[in-house]
Amino acid sequence: MTARLPWSLECSSCGATRSPAGLPGVCDCGRPLLVRYRAAPAPEARALLGGRPWTMWRYREWLPLADGEAPVTLGEGGTPLVTVPHVADRHGFRDLWVKEEGVNPTGSFKARGLAAAVTRAASAGARAFVVPTAGNAGVALAAYAARAGVRARVYAPASTPATILSQIRSFGADLALVDGHIGDCGKAARGFAAETGAVDVSTLREPYRIEGKKTLGLELAEQFGWTLPDAIVYPTGGGTGLIGMWKAFAELAQAGWIQGKPPRMYSVQAAGCAPVVHAFDAGADACTPWPAPWTIAAGLRVPSPLGDRLMLSALRESGGGAVAVSDAQLAAAARDLQVLEGIDASPEGGAALAAAVELKARGVLQGPERVVIFNTGAGWLYRA
Ligand SMILES: Cc1ncc(COP(=O)(O)O)c(C=O)c1O
Repeated sequence: MTARLPWSLECSSCGATRSPAGLPGVCDCGRPLLVRYRAAPAPEARALLGGRPWTMWRYREWLPLADGEAPVTLGEGGTPLVTVPHVADRHGFRDLWVKEEGVNPTGSFKARGLAAAVTRAASAGARAFVVPTAGNAGVALAAYAARAGVRARVYAPASTPATILSQIRSFGADLALVDGHIGDCGKAARGFAAETGAVDVSTLREPYRIEGKKTLGLELAEQFGWTLPDAIVYPTGGGTGLIGMWKAFAELAQAGWIQGKPPRMYSVQAAGCAPVVHAFDAGADACTPWPAPWTIAAGLRVPSPLGDRLMLSALRESGGGAVAVSDAQLAAAARDLQVLEGIDASPEGGAALAAAVELKARGVLQGPERVVIFNTGAGWLYRA
């Protein structure tokens, strides 16, 4: 079956190409691989979407699937894109939207990436998975591994919210708590993978989570009638969502499905862990590891992201930027989304709103612009 896979893998750093046959990983040079499809779907293929269910797999021509192959799925994607009139009025936005990813199976946008990664690795014969996590990726891996009938080991910081840890356990994963941050969990996960042959599905250590996250961008384009917003404000940890959406916009433009300028992309981080903001402001191509990272937005506690170069180039190419918000600001904004709009925002979703407000105050975002913020996870996962 592998010989018929309609894509190849290309290194994001040295440009080497590699066949997608076998278990997924990184390039021999250690940097992330990206999927390159042999053919782009023609604009006429839009007509196929009409009869398909609202899950991310409605875009199967854009995704790493062999002809007729069934994905490992729990119905992820197809999430609401809603206006937030009370919050918009309060801050002077006239066209502000929230992409509500908290309603995905497993409660976060991580479902998209892990559904794609588990699909590919299971089809290549994976006998076990391992992932380091700030929390939500661990819940998603646990559920999709269960669905695929493959064992999963998850390494999470001991400081991860208790409800998230309990969700990981409830899907039957083997959870190991680490006294440290996700970087420390990554080291443990790589050791486990080397020892046991488990497939490491860490952010950008395999190429398919990005493809799943790409559907955030495809879905946004379709929900806006094949147009794109002026700006996207996105809470960034490892960066898969940002990199995935930027890849989606490039592929859509190349295929002729959208015209005009892509959105300006703004990365949001917490003031207690802001390596991307720091590198962006310094004009650097890569991040310097953030010492002693801390924030209540667990998903943003990523001190040294492997996808730093890809993120920084997407932010710059798009004409966007990067902004840090305090834990007090992000908690207050999450509460506003809950109380004023009925959206159960996670702290990361709150960070996106807080950053949009900050960018508006700085004159970087304009009132009439179409702006989309992402609530990447459900608030209940953070409550005891
Ligand atoms: C709720 C939430 N938002 C945002 C992020 C950051 O994700 P990304 O890897 O796309 O930067 C995470 C990562 O754990 C998360 O759980």
